[in-house]
Amino acid sequence: MSRFLIATAAALGLALGAAGSAQAADSKQVYDFYCAQCHGTDGKGKGINVTKDFATDPRNLTSSSEMEKRSDEDLRGVIKDGGPSISKSALMPHWRSTLTADEVEGLVKYIRKLCDCKGK
Ligand code: HEC
Repeated sequence: MSRFLIATAAALGLALGAAGSAQAADSKQVYDFYCAQCHGTDGKGKGINVTKDFATDPRNLTSSSEMEKRSDEDLRGVIKDGGPSISKSALMPHWRSTLTADEVEGLVKYIRKLCDCKGK
């Protein structure tokens, strides 16, 4: 009986651990797929989609001095509802019909890693 419990606990622990790291990997994948063409794979705002015709440059998401001015709620909002929702450029699309709430949450955490900063 106790052997069974230990084995179950170990299996659960493994499953939870795997789910945790899979989520982090997923957020990078989501970012690379949907965001990197503008914000760049490195987050610096120089993705391959960005040309001189862009009236507004995509935010350099690695800039801690800029990104620490935004709360996590601000980031969630602009990802879901796009640039115009915070009086910013419509070149920042809205993602509310593309991404799930979990994916948006993962991206907020991913952006905090890119800027190595906390929200206000
Ligand atoms: C078509 C190009 C494009 C794509 C794709 C794009 N963005 Fe943006 N993004 C922009 C532009 C341009 C701005 C700057 C808007 C401004 O400053 O007026 C911006 C701004 C932002 C901001 C606001 C930063 C701030 O100053 O508060 C965040 C956060 C952001 N983008 C995250 C994302 C995420 C996450 C994705 C992928 C799900 C994404 N963006 C995809 C172009 C893009």
